[in-house]
This record gives sequence, structure tokens and C-alpha cells, in this order.
Amino acid sequence: MKAWQLTGFGLDHLVLNDIPKPEPGPDEVLVRVSAVSLNYRDKLLCDGKYNPHLELPITQVADAVGEVVALGTGVTRFRPGDRVVTNYCTRWIDGQPTSKETLYSLGNTLPGALAEFLALTEDALAAAPAYLTDEEAAALPCAALTAWYALVEKGQLHAGQTVLIQGTGGVSLFGLQIAAALGATVIVTSSSDEKLARVKALGATHTINYSRTPNWENEALALTGKQGVDHILEVVGGKNLAQSIEALKPGGQISIIGILDGFDSTIALFSLIKKQAVLRGISVGPRRALEDMLRKFDELKLRPFIDSVYAFNDARAAYDRLEKGAFGKIVIRVRD
Ligand SMILES: NC(=O)c1ccc[n+]([C@@H]2O[C@H](COP(=O)([O-])OP(=O)(O)OC[C@H]3O[C@@H](n4cnc5c(N)ncnc54)[C@H](OP(=O)(O)O)[C@@H]3O)[C@@H](O)[C@H]2O)c1
Repeated sequence: MKAWQLTGFGLDHLVLNDIPKPEPGPDEVLVRVSAVSLNYRDKLLCDGKYNPHLELPITQVADAVGEVVALGTGVTRFRPGDRVVTNYCTRWIDGQPTSKETLYSLGNTLPGALAEFLALTEDALAAAPAYLTDEEAAALPCAALTAWYALVEKGQLHAGQTVLIQGTGGVSLFGLQIAAALGATVIVTSSSDEKLARVKALGATHTINYSRTPNWENEALALTGKQGVDHILEVVGGKNLAQSIEALKPGGQISIIGILDGFDSTIALFSLIKKQAVLRGISVGPRRALEDMLRKFDELKLRPFIDSVYAFNDARAAYDRLEKGAFGKIVIRVRD
């Protein structure tokens, strides 16, 4: 079968190879992949920054939708013909992870889904919502669950609260969509006025251009009558985290999700103490939360914002797009 594999670090080492079609082992299903979506983590993996000890060559990409075409022994949750999506943390089913459940992800420690077929434990799969196209379903798993788990499950977000969303990437636009659907006031930051106009049309109440207003936390305070915001999805990291603490309401919470500006932060502990703020690391979420989220998306008929769709043979161009700050999700169609 055809598979896009990383044979070394750097995008020049992402190559289309012919490799043996996998066989489903015990408790595994064989999925014919229909579509996948990219996450910023896929770029970090290519660059050797996500896992410098990656065992090469390895098929890339974690988020996928496809059709179950064969079953290994002992499979009980799926049948041939079922349409399924992958869960990012393949071994995290429910509850708090106790050990290394968050380390087993496709394209990293396990062969990924940017291939014609994928053999995977049935525990790492959820039923794909019928109302979504393959491209839309492929866009959901990692980014949407990260925003959902942070805001809804851990954050207990409710109507009337204020959420600040940083940028207009995959996680952020799902954060906007979920928060707006649940009745929150949403402030979105972006480097682009054109993107800010688009998020207003998608439900953002207020917008801030962080390039023109580098001290965006002051603007967030002004927009909330100096009260501050209840929740922040921190996708930027680095020095941005200190600004997020300043923008927070007393008792507010920051979900630490991304490292777009760096892996290390220096923060003012006294600000944190005075506000009794909560900083919480987020590692996507368990399959049970993915299933909860998919039910809610189905109930509200929420559709992911898709930036662009690429053909399988054009996967390198999709990665190039990832470098350029897409508005929403980048999808690769694997099966025509
Ligand atoms: N912890 C987890 O479970 C988890 C899960 C998923 C993703 N992540 C991480 O979360 C981050 C975002 O991932 P993604 O896949 O959503 O990325 P993405 O789709 O590539 O989003 C990138 C966007 O981030 C925005 N951005 C960049 N620098 C910014 C800054 N200084 N301030 C505000 N916004 C900024 C830009 O928006 P504008 O163009 O609008 O300026 C850019 O388009 C990454 O670090 C990723 O590794 C973590």
C-alpha cells in the first residue's frame, strides 16, 4: 500500500513509499483510510522537535476517518462497514491517565494514518458522526477534543462566562465554536484583520489584533470592564503565558495547550497567587470524552472550519500550508 513516511527530519524526508498492507492483530481493526487532517504537532514531528527519538521510517499523521474493512480476533465494538475516527491518545480510554497512556499516538510512537490502510486497536476508535463528510470528520479528533476537554470537561464552561481564544488555528477555532455554542462571550486574538473579520462572522464577540496590540492583555481587560476573562486556551506558550495571567479574572483558568512561541515560560507568581488562578496542562483527552464531544457536536450539528483539502499525492503541499498559518483545519483526502 501507499504511505507517506518520514525517513529523516525535515519536510524533504516526507516521502511516498510502498509498504506492506497491515494485518489486524488481536483486538485490532483494519481501517481503509478516507481522509486525515494535520495538526501543528505534525509539523513539530517532521522538524524533529516533538520526538527527537522517533524511530524512522514512520508513517505520519494522527487524525483520520475511515471505514472498517476487516476485524482481528476478539473485536466487539465495530463491524465491517462502520465509519470510525481515531482518538489521539490511543491508549487513554477514560479517567485520569495513570502512566504513559498519553504517549501512544499515531505517527509518533505508532504507525500513522497518512496511508491507504491502518491497523489499530478498536479501543482507539470512535464512531464517526453520520452528518459529517469524511473531510469534516477527519478534522475533528485532536484539535476539537483538546478545546472541548479544556473548556467543557475540565473547565466546566457555562453560558455567560468569557473565553479568550488565541489565534485562528485548528484548536482555537474549535474553541471559538464550542464556547459560542455554549453561550459564552468569546474574545479572539489574531495577527490578521482579515481573519478577525471572519471570526466575528463565526461568533466571536470581540477581537484583538495581537500584532498591532502586542500587550493584548490590556485590551482584554478593557473589553471586560477590567474584570478579566474566565477561561483562556493558551496555545502560544513562551512569554505569552505571563500576559494570559494578567488578562485573567480572579479564580479564572488557563488551559496550557501549545508552545507556538516556545516550550519555556517565566510567569509572575504573585499575580497567579493574588488571582488564585488555575493553570492546567492539557493532553488532548480520553476516548470517552471524544465520544461525549461527538454526541454534542451531532446534537448541535456543529461543522468544523476547514481551511483547505489536498489530494493524497499532494500531501507535501498540505504540510507547506501548515507552515503558513491556516484558518482552521487542513485535510488530506486519502481515498477518492
Ligand atoms: N496539548 C494538547 O493536547 C494539544 C493539542 C493540539 C494542539 N496542541 C498545540 O497547540 C498549538 C496550536 O495547535 P494547532 O494545531 O491549533 O495550530 P495551527 O492550526 O497551526 O495554528 C497556528 C495559529 O496560531 C496562531 N498564533 C501563532 N502565534 C501566535 C501568537 N503569538 N499569539 C496568538 N496566536 C498565535 C496563528 O493565528 P493567526 O494567524 O490568527 O495569528 C496561527 O495561524 C500548537 O503548539 C500545538 O502543538 C496541543
